[in-house]
Amino acid sequence: MLVSTLAWCFLPYFTLATVTLSDPSDIIPPAIWAADNAIVPNYSDPFLSVQPSPIIAAYEFDGNNSTSIDHLSLSTFENQTSVILAANGAELNLSYVNILKEGYSEDLIEASFWGFNAAINVANASTAYFDHVNVTVHNGAANIYAYGTGTVIYLENAWLYSSGPVSHGVYASGNGTVYASHVSHYSGGKRSSSFSGDSPAGYVHISDSTAHSAGVGSATYYALGEIHADNVVSISENGPVVFMDGQQKAYLRHCDATAGLLGGVALFSSAVRASGALLSVASSKITTLGDEMPGLWFGNLIIDVTLHDTEIVTASGVLIVSNFSQITQDFDHYADYSEQPNLAPAIVNVTVSESDLVGDLVAYNESSITLALTSYSNWTGAAYAGYGNAYFDISLDSTSYWILTNTTTVQNFTSEDATLSNIYSSGFDVYYNSSAVLNSYLNGQTLSLPGGGKAIPSS
Ligand SMILES: *[C@@H]1O[C@H](CO)[C@@H](O)[C@H](O)[C@H]1NC(C)=O
Ligand SMILES: *[C@@H]1O[C@H](CO)[C@@H](O)[C@H](O)[C@H]1NC(C)=O
Ligand SMILES: *[C@@H]1O[C@H](CO)[C@@H](O)[C@H](O)[C@H]1NC(C)=O
Ligand SMILES: *[C@@H]1O[C@H](CO)[C@@H](O)[C@H](O)[C@H]1NC(C)=O
Ligand SMILES: *[C@@H]1O[C@H](CO)[C@@H](O)[C@H](O)[C@H]1NC(C)=O
Ligand SMILES: *[C@@H]1O[C@H](CO)[C@@H](O)[C@H](O)[C@H]1NC(C)=O
Ligand SMILES: *[C@@H]1O[C@H](CO)[C@@H](O)[C@H](O)[C@H]1NC(C)=O
Ligand SMILES: *[C@@H]1O[C@H](CO)[C@@H](O)[C@H](O)[C@H]1NC(C)=O
Ligand SMILES: *[C@@H]1O[C@H](CO)[C@@H](O)[C@H](O)[C@H]1NC(C)=O
Ligand SMILES: *[C@@H]1O[C@H](CO)[C@@H](O)[C@H](O)[C@H]1NC(C)=O
Ligand SMILES: *[C@@H]1O[C@H](CO)[C@@H](O)[C@H](O)[C@H]1NC(C)=O
Ligand SMILES: *[C@@H]1O[C@H](CO)[C@@H](O)[C@H](O)[C@H]1NC(C)=O
Repeated sequence: MLVSTLAWCFLPYFTLATVTLSDPSDIIPPAIWAADNAIVPNYSDPFLSVQPSPIIAAYEFDGNNSTSIDHLSLSTFENQTSVILAANGAELNLSYVNILKEGYSEDLIEASFWGFNAAINVANASTAYFDHVNVTVHNGAANIYAYGTGTVIYLENAWLYSSGPVSHGVYASGNGTVYASHVSHYSGGKRSSSFSGDSPAGYVHISDSTAHSAGVGSATYYALGEIHADNVVSISENGPVVFMDGQQKAYLRHCDATAGLLGGVALFSSAVRASGALLSVASSKITTLGDEMPGLWFGNLIIDVTLHDTEIVTASGVLIVSNFSQITQDFDHYADYSEQPNLAPAIVNVTVSESDLVGDLVAYNESSITLALTSYSNWTGAAYAGYGNAYFDISLDSTSYWILTNTTTVQNFTSEDATLSNIYSSGFDVYYNSSAVLNSYLNGQTLSLPGGGKAIPSS
C-alpha cells in the first residue's frame, strides 16, 4: 500500500489530503512469498560480457515476425526459461494478456543483466506494444525486459508483481528503451528496483504510475542510462528513490517518492569517479524515513543537480551529503576506502529554484557542495564537514534567503544583495574565504547579518 500526500497525481483537483493508493501487494500478500524474497543474490558469479545464447522461452517470436495476441493467459514454471522472447527484429503486441512466471535462475547475474528468466524478454531491435497486461513472477525474474539498440517497448496499463531477487519491474539494458504509463508495480525481493536501466544504457520513460519495492537494494529508479519519470508515486522500503551508477541522467517531475534506506537518492560511481552525471527534480517531493538518512546522497561522483519547486523532507535533518564513498553490491551501507580503492571526493553542484529547503549540507574528506539559491528559494540550515576537509560554495540571488541554523564556514559566498540582508543569522556567523575568487565584492570586510550574526573573512 502506498500513502501519498501529493494527491494531484491521481485526483482531478488539487488537495493536500493524504490519499491511500493500492498496489499489487494488496492483492498478493508478500508474506506468502517470504522465502522467495529472502533469497540473497550471489554477485560473485563471473560476469558474462556477451548475451548468453540461446535465451529459452516458452513462446518465442524470432526474426521479422509480426504477431498480435489478445485475451490469453501464458505461463511457464520451468527454471531458466522466459514466458515470452521476442527477438531479432520481431514485432509483438499483447493486449489483455496475463503472464505467470515461476522458476529459478542458476545465475542471478545472468538473470539480472541479460534478462534470462525474465517473464517477457524483448531483444535485438524488436518492437512491442503491450496494453492491459498482468505480469506476475516468482523465484527471481524481471517482469518486462528490453535489450539492445533499436528495441522499444510501449507499455500501457500494466499490473506488475514479483517476488524473489533481481525481479525488476520494467528493465531496459543494452541501449533498449521502454515507454511505460499507468503501471502499478510491486517487488518484494532484493535488488528488484521498480524501473531500471543497465549497461551500457537503458532508457526508461515512466508516467502516471505507482511503484512499491520492499527488498534491500531495490530502488524506485535504478539509473544506468536515462530515467524520465512523470507523475509517479512510489515507495522503496529498503532503498533510495534513485540509485545511479556513473555518468547517468535521471529526471523526476510531479513525483511523490519515499525512501527507507541509505538516502532519498544514492548516486555514486562503482568504479573510477565519473563526471557529467545529472539529476533533475521538478515539482516533486522526496521523503526519507530513517533517522540518519540524508535527503540527497552523492559519493565518488561529479554531478549537477537541479531542484525546482521541490520539497525534501528528512527525519535526519541532513539535506545533502557529498562523500568520499560509494555503494557496494550489498546496497545496504556506504562503503569506505577499505572496500573500494577507487574512491575520490564527490563534487556536487546543486541549483535550486522556487523551493524551500530545510536541512544541513555535510561534506566528507575533500568533497564539496555548491548550492545556488535562485528564483524565490530559501534554505534553512548550516554546512559542516563530516570528516576531514569539506568545501561549500553558497550563492543567493536577490529573491532568495538563507536562514542559518549554525555557524558555517564557506568558500565562495556570493549574494546578489551585497549588504547580505537576505541572510537571516539567528545570531550565527558565516566565515567566508576572503581569497576565494568570487568574494572580492565583500572587500575582506566583516559585515553584520540580520539577526545578530556576522559575515567574517577567514583566510
Ligand atoms: C557465490 O559464487 C561464487 C562464484 O561462483 C562461489 O564461489 C561462492 O561459493 C558463492 N557463494 C555462495 C554463498 O553461494
Ligand atoms: C542478440 O544478438 C546477439 C548478437 O547477434 C546474439 O548473440 C544474441 O543471441 C541475440 N539475442 C537473442 C535473444 O536472440
Ligand atoms: C529482418 O528484415 C530486415 C529488413 O528486411 C533485414 O535486414 C534483417 O536481416 C531481417 N532479420 C531477420 C532476423 O530476419
Ligand atoms: C510468427 O511467430 C508465430 C509464433 O511463433 C508463428 O505462429 C507464426 O507462424 C510466425 N509468423 C511468421 C510470418 O513467421
Ligand atoms: C501493434 O500495435 C501497433 C501500435 O498500435 C500497430 O501499429 C501495429 O500494426 C500492431 N501490430 C500488429 C501485428 O498487430
Ligand atoms: C529449479 O530450481 C530449483 C532451485 O534451484 C530446484 O530445486 C528445482 O529442482 C529446479 N527444477 C527443475 C525442473 O530443474
Ligand atoms: C494478476 O495475476 C495474478 C496471478 O497470475 C493474480 O493473482 C492477480 O490477482 C492478477 N491481478 C489482477 C489485478 O487481476
Ligand atoms: C549500445 O550502444 C553502443 C554505442 O552506440 C554500441 O557500441 C553497443 O554495441 C550497443 N549495445 C547493444 C547491445 O546494442
Ligand atoms: C552548476 O550548475 C549550474 C546549472 O546547471 C551551471 O550553470 C554552473 O555552471 C554549474 N557550476 C559549476 C561550478 O559547475
Ligand atoms: C522564501 O521565503 C520568503 C520570505 O519568507 C517567502 O516570501 C517565499 O515564499 C519563500 N519561498 C518559498 C519557495 O517557499
Ligand atoms: C553547531 O556547530 C557546533 C560546532 O560544529 C556543534 O557542536 C553544534 O552541535 C552545532 N549545533 C547544531 C544545533 O547543529
Ligand atoms: C570559487 O568559485 C570559482 C568559480 O566557480 C572556482 O573556480 C573556485 O574554485 C571556487 N573556490 C574558491 C576557494 O575560490
